[in-house]
Amino acid sequence: MPDISRVGVLGCGQMGSGIAQVAAMAGFPTLVRDLDAGLLARGERSIQQSLEKLVDKGKLDASTRDAALERLTYTVELADLAGCDLIIEAVTESLELKNELWRALDPLCGPGTIFASNTSSLSIGDMAAATRRPEQFVGLHFFNPVPLMPLVEVVRAVATSRETFETALVFARRLGKEPIAAPDRSGFVVNRLLVPYLLDAARARESGLASTSDIDRGMQLGCGHPMGPLTLLDFVGLDTVVRIAEVMFEEFREPRLAPPPLLRRMVVAGLHGRKSGRGFYDYATNPPTPVDLGL
Ligand code: 3HC
Repeated sequence: MPDISRVGVLGCGQMGSGIAQVAAMAGFPTLVRDLDAGLLARGERSIQQSLEKLVDKGKLDASTRDAALERLTYTVELADLAGCDLIIEAVTESLELKNELWRALDPLCGPGTIFASNTSSLSIGDMAAATRRPEQFVGLHFFNPVPLMPLVEVVRAVATSRETFETALVFARRLGKEPIAAPDRSGFVVNRLLVPYLLDAARARESGLASTSDIDRGMQLGCGHPMGPLTLLDFVGLDTVVRIAEVMFEEFREPRLAPPPLLRRMVVAGLHGRKSGRGFYDYATNPPTPVDLGL
């Protein structure tokens, strides 16, 4: 089984920075690549803040934090990733964008380098086909917030070799995560169940079934969910969920997977959830207050 000694991460947004953090915490020298210094600085800050939280809560000691920070390096150059044994992509959910990166990286990397995508809805096979290494292409789907959520879905596409799949399972366990095998079908296992639920919650709000806070409190207090569905939509990002739903709708053509008009209108209006400061809730207040959506 190939040894993973150096990890590359493409993109340092919410997911990429979390993935880089857990790789560095698990002892892997980790190189993070994004488009410009500003994006890299934002990713680095969020990693520092997350590590700080873990230290404050007594879940991590300061020397382990410092060692993790030392294992992290940052670059804007794609070519710098050439020495990595595993490259995990966590850029915007666009097949064109992802494949553009894979096509550029493919000739730069050695034949043994494994490519992995953190896509939540796109086909791993569609990305693998853009490279000359479909056997060394796998899905590694993490959950937000990456440092806290124990699950990783490991996705074996039609052409993924058993060895690559097994290496990815071992890697996920080395990160301290619990892997499950998932098929190369849009949404894999978790989003196949979660996304229709989140879209139904937005439809419930849109149709006036209940208020924002009652929908959330209902599912928290009635079903023991840590977050209500509208809070979770804000947390994941409304733009991201709309994009995932569009891809899943394209694959399965089920009406329940079509993003409801309310979500589209909110995205167009810039209400992307927690990251933009407003979504179903306004995050300028503490605690956040439901936004008047004109319903
Ligand atoms: N790094 C480190 N620590 C963090 C953190 C981070 N990024 N975010 C939160 N924490 C810590 C807090 O410091 C706090 O520590 P404590 O319990 O010791 O006090 C703890 O986590 C809990 O945080 P909060 O009190 O702020 O909030 P919650 O109690 O609500 O917990 C949560 C936060 C763990 C995110 C919890 O609400 C939860 O599990 N929510 C559901 C998340 C979920 O469903 N994720 C999956 C999304 S779907 C997905 O990612 C797939 C994609 O493809 C769409």
